Amino acid sequence: MDFKDLVQKRRSIRKFTDEEISSEQLQLILRAALMSPTSKGTRAWHFIVVDDKDMLEKMSNVREMGSQFVAGAAVAIVVLGDRDVTDAWVEDAALAAVTMQYQAAELGLGSCWCHIRNRFSAVQEPADNLLRFLLKYPENLTAECIIGIGHPAIERKLQDEDGLKWENVSIYKKD
Ligand SMILES: Cc1cc2nc3c(=O)[nH]c(=O)nc-3n(C[C@H](O)[C@H](O)[C@H](O)COP(=O)(O)O)c2cc1C
Repeated sequence: MDFKDLVQKRRSIRKFTDEEISSEQLQLILRAALMSPTSKGTRAWHFIVVDDKDMLEKMSNVREMGSQFVAGAAVAIVVLGDRDVTDAWVEDAALAAVTMQYQAAELGLGSCWCHIRNRFSAVQEPADNLLRFLLKYPENLTAECIIGIGHPAIERKLQDEDGLKWENVSIYKKD
């Protein structure tokens, strides 16, 4: 599939079958993250891969809403940035996350972003604190998001070519 078709095919998938993803697929997805661009080439992100069902269930409750689909994923990858190394850690983490989503889509897998930074649990605890407690990552790392990945249990329509917001694009013209 060429990139033109891949960007149209990628949709957020929040329902997964019980089928596991292969170690080759997982490695390709992580490889894509590790090849993603970073500010000044710092590559200061960190990725925590979770496929343990009990832990996925716990992670799915770190937010009041929006994180529940993580429980049904075959694997979840927590994307973290190191604030001590770069002030562009949010951008670096986001780019790595979306790069993994495109690689997953290219492999025929489904994925969805679960946002963590500045998000809260049902009892207003920062989702990042809860994740840190569960996964024991150090204070210098902050989670941007969790990417949940698995075999899609639903089919989603391609991105609507006719619905694209071309009106949000403007072209500078010299006076
Ligand atoms: C920064 C960001 C945060 C998101 N947070 C969540 C989230 O917490 N939970 C969720 O189910 N989807 C989340 N999504 C997925 C969006 O809801 C989804 O991308 C959007 O509805 C467009 O649908 P599409 O991905 O199928 O094109 C997030 C996406 C982005 C880019």
